[in-house]
Amino acid sequence: TPYHEQYRLQAHFSPKAHWTNDPNGMVYYKGTYHLFFQYYPDATIWGPMHWGHAVSKDMIHWKQLPIALYPDKLGYIFSGSVVVDENNTSGLGTKDKPAMVAIFTHHDPKGEKAGLSKYQNQSLAYSLDEGLTWKKYSGNPVLKNPGIKDFRDPKVFWYDKGNKWLMSLATKDRITFYSSPNLKNWKKESDFGQMLGAHGGVWECPDLFPLKLNGKEYWVLLVSINPGGPNKGSATQYFVGHFDGKTFTPTSTQTKWIDYGPDNYAGVTFGNTGNRKVFLGWMGNWLYANQVPTVKWRNAMTVPRELDLKLTAGDIYLTSNPVKELDKIVAKTIKVDAALLAKNNNIFSVIKQTPAQYVLEFNTQAVKDYSVMLSNATGEQLIIGYDAKNTRYYIDRTKAGQHGFSKQFATRSYVPRVSASLTSDMELIVDASSIELFADGGLSNLTGVFFPKKPYTRLSIVNNGMEIEGLELKPLRSIW
Ligand code: FRU
Repeated sequence: TPYHEQYRLQAHFSPKAHWTNDPNGMVYYKGTYHLFFQYYPDATIWGPMHWGHAVSKDMIHWKQLPIALYPDKLGYIFSGSVVVDENNTSGLGTKDKPAMVAIFTHHDPKGEKAGLSKYQNQSLAYSLDEGLTWKKYSGNPVLKNPGIKDFRDPKVFWYDKGNKWLMSLATKDRITFYSSPNLKNWKKESDFGQMLGAHGGVWECPDLFPLKLNGKEYWVLLVSINPGGPNKGSATQYFVGHFDGKTFTPTSTQTKWIDYGPDNYAGVTFGNTGNRKVFLGWMGNWLYANQVPTVKWRNAMTVPRELDLKLTAGDIYLTSNPVKELDKIVAKTIKVDAALLAKNNNIFSVIKQTPAQYVLEFNTQAVKDYSVMLSNATGEQLIIGYDAKNTRYYIDRTKAGQHGFSKQFATRSYVPRVSASLTSDMELIVDASSIELFADGGLSNLTGVFFPKKPYTRLSIVNNGMEIEGLELKPLRSIW
């Protein structure tokens, strides 16, 4: 049955069938979260891109709707964003019936093949029925390529202070900001980043948004790069700084990553969520995303994560934590104490079921190593741990299951701690074929997928004499 095949994630969005990569057009409107996604409806590999569409009332339970955008004579539909044009600046709707407007990249495969440079351009589509059906704008493209091959992934928001729309666009080795009064005419404001951050690959999928820290406003710029991530392949870096409507100025030149894991890419935030900023990424890596051993469908999204800023170790960092809405699918909370742990080191036996998903939380003053091992009777094992000597967390999937599909897959990934003097806490979200680690209050994150031949049935903890203050097991209910 759909949504219950081997490896199918039970607490994460994935398309019912076929291929997905980036999340697109994430926006909250009239009580509904919209998630569009890079989608190829004819195969389980990347191909001519469409925008798939799913909706949710809580960001957790999703319902897939018909395809929103199909390729056309201007090309495939690459990544982009959706805004609600409340003031009808575009004239595509009315004041009473504002249009939802998608701003996306038209990628012309013929131009690419012919070796031209201007095959990526920005276009519009709009919906007058709250996202159910979409029409392409007749004046497409609205932002023409000036001669930069990589010219894509527009993320647009209404910049109230300047009374204009602002677009962040990935332009090869930098982000270019554009502004517009009406979504149709765009003016270049500035470039950012050609001399800053990581440049092991092309820059993609930017997102610029404000967040408060102790009442003071900062701006965060997310930039995905592929390849060149800290654990190889695709990953998303970020900058914290100031934005004046024209220029983004970072407060620090240190390269920071929203997630060090191999499988969190092209993530951006939902529009229209007020002061709250919720991020969601694609749980994949271009190194092997086309080869992972799922059958009917391929790839999924991370759980939605609440973003906040934190001042620590003399710098400002992003924290990412699972949204509180995830609690809605917690079936029960089982507190595991030291006595129980000593008596029975297979914690799964305590909940008397083989969970595909659960949340594990514990707090400790991290001065020694500890690790958590998931395993099955065939000896496959996924190890998550803390390496005190090098003050870093890791996920080791070298023996976690199938990996013959790609030489790049069987790896151990690390995330350094921002500060070793923090109290260490770790929360894990484990699904049928994915793990997400949130440590130190969400300062250090690792996300990875894995493919055991049989589900894991054992969960044991090696704590090397550490005090585990609280360990909670929260089996999650399936969202499907
Ligand atoms: C990122 C990306 C985007 C592009 C899309 C194409 O994963 O390469 O830059 O718009 O995927 O599917």
